[in-house]
Parts: sequence; structure tokens; C-alpha cells
Amino acid sequence: MTIADVSAAATGPICAVAPIGLLAELTHRCPLQCPYCSNPVALEAAAKELPTAVWQDVLRQAADMGVLQLHLSGGEPLARTDLEEIMATADEVGLYSNLITSASGLTRKRLEGLAARGLKHVQISFQDAEAVNADRLGGAKNGHARKLEAARMVRELELALTVNAPIHRQNIDHLGALIAMAEELGAGRIEVAHVQYYGWALANRAALLPTREQVNASVAIVEAARARLKGRMQIDFVVPDYYARRPKPCMGGWGSTSMNVTPTGKVLPCHAAESIPGLAFENVRDRPLRDIWLTGPAFQKYRGTAWMKEPCQSCEFKEIDWGGCRCQAMLLAGDATAADPVCAKSPLNGRVREIALAESRTQTATLIQRNYRNAGQRMRIS
Ligand code: FES
Repeated sequence: MTIADVSAAATGPICAVAPIGLLAELTHRCPLQCPYCSNPVALEAAAKELPTAVWQDVLRQAADMGVLQLHLSGGEPLARTDLEEIMATADEVGLYSNLITSASGLTRKRLEGLAARGLKHVQISFQDAEAVNADRLGGAKNGHARKLEAARMVRELELALTVNAPIHRQNIDHLGALIAMAEELGAGRIEVAHVQYYGWALANRAALLPTREQVNASVAIVEAARARLKGRMQIDFVVPDYYARRPKPCMGGWGSTSMNVTPTGKVLPCHAAESIPGLAFENVRDRPLRDIWLTGPAFQKYRGTAWMKEPCQSCEFKEIDWGGCRCQAMLLAGDATAADPVCAKSPLNGRVREIALAESRTQTATLIQRNYRNAGQRMRIS
């Protein structure tokens, strides 16, 4: 059953085509200032955030339409004092809840309260395994020590733990130590994710992009760790697009597996979708979530393959990688319907290689920290 079939039928369950996951960005407030944050550069103000009752209604609607997983994120979701109420609703409607957190503010009392209300999984981001560099990158004094303490509490309460380790030139040489740290903490999974260059990371690309030699070394470290930790800790590995031959199937295909709701209620096909000019995003305050997913113009725009141009339209991989990432095509090619320029078949791929070569070898280590003060900073795109 396709989205179009269900849209035409207009009523009845949509489990067969519903998104698997919903990313609820409860707030853009955050005590950390990571220079590769996946939030948009234009952060949304606290005064405009959705109230508790609207979030609770969103979760009920999500469960009704067949969503299975809820990712509570931000910013820092713990900045919401009503997080426990939202968590309780998620549990009541049967959503599997994952808390994506910096762990700042994650006291034992709050963690126990969230666990009692149905929290199943906690994903803690680490900036490095080395405390001084981690706190420099995150911009928070003693932040690393608090993360270690929080991760141990998560395991003491027998909740599932994922260590989220964004990798870039300023921490890549500590990758082995990051994996060892996750193992020591008892994480079931570590996500070794080379930073993807959108938003804040794009603005800081020249200071973050690793060299090809560093990327190759990281692949070897991950492969060796996977062999050593098989059956004990899962290692998910995201390679940097700029060195790939084939593009990633971003979001598993536009409007196919997940949806994002921003702090103010805009419903997005992906976290960076607002970087594509001309897309109109509907709001949970104005229209049911199910209808936005099925027929919303932003979701329809790049769903499936009909929108593709060459070389994607005749490509044998078009239903595997879905042309790569629409946001990256917009940022690098200036055209969201172009092939993702990180694909070897893109006419712009040579330019991406040149950027990678030049920027990964610059000496700059200066970073624009992610905060409200810098939120008006203009993004650099090439
Ligand atoms: Fe938007 Fe890839 S981040 S489609």
C-alpha cells in the first residue's frame, strides 16, 4: 500500500504507511553549545514552545496513526519541566520512548521519575573521551564528568544506554578511547557518527572536517572494535558524506519512515528541511498529524522518485539511496531536486572532493558555538 493509496482512501488505519518514529524536539534551549548541533541555525524561542497539552495530543495522534518509537530530543529535553508528564502520556499510548540528552540536569530523582513513567532508552551525547576537550567543545564546565555520572545511573536503573559520539577533526584521534569509554559504561550501543555538514556543522566545516587519512584510520578502528565487541556492544558507524562514493539514503527516503515536530509545532520531513527555501511546513496546531503526513505539501514534495532529475531518474540505485539527501543537494548544488553532490554520479562531485581536500587541511580550529547569541550568524555553504 502506498501513501497515495491511503491518501485517496482518506479514512481508516494507516499503519502500513505510517512513520516508524517521531522525533519530538521539545525545546531548542540547551546548556551545551556544540558547534555541530543538528538544530537549525535559527533557533526557536522558549516563549513559542508548544504547551504540555499540545505535546500530549501530538503523542496520542502519533500512536493512533501507527508510530512506534518516540525520540524525545531538543535542544535539551530536560529543560522542559513537564518532561515527566509528556513521558507518562507516551507510555499510556504505547510509544517506545528514547530520551536523547546531553545529560545536563539529569539527576537521579529525574531519571527515576522518568523511568517510573515508562522511559525505556537513554541516548547520551559525548563530545570526547578526554574531559578537557569535551568540555571545550560542549562549552560547559564539568559537563563531561556529569555525563559519565548520568550514564552510570542509567545502567544502575537497568535502562538501555546508547553513547552518541559525533566524530570530527577535533576529536577523531580519540575514537578508540571513546569506544572503550562506552564499553566501560556498559552501553549496549555506541553511535560513532561522523558529523554531517548542515546548519551549525556547515558553518564550522573548515574546523571540523577530518582528513581522508583520519577517516580511513577511523574505519580501521571501528572494524577492529566491532570484531572485539561482537555480541556485547553494537557499533553503528556513520561515515562522512564528503568522502563517500555513494550518497546515504537520507531519512530512509523523504517522508517514508520518520517525521520531526519542532518546538513550535512545525512538522518536518527531516531535521534540516527548513534549509530548503519554498517548502511550506504545516503545524500540529492547525491540522491533524496524520493528514500532514499523508498529504502535507512538504512531505509530498520529494516522496518517492517522480521528482527526480538525471542522473537519479535512470539510476539503478534510485530506490536504494533515494538520490541521497535533499537538504545537502540544496546546500551544495543550490537545487533540492539535484543528485546529492556527494554521489560520484553528480556533476558537482569533483567540487565536493576539492572542498574536502582543502578544508580538512586548514589550520583553523576556531568554532562558532551553538547558542542563541550566534543563532543569527550567516551560514557559509561552499
Ligand atoms: Fe534533510 Fe537529508 S537532512 S533530506
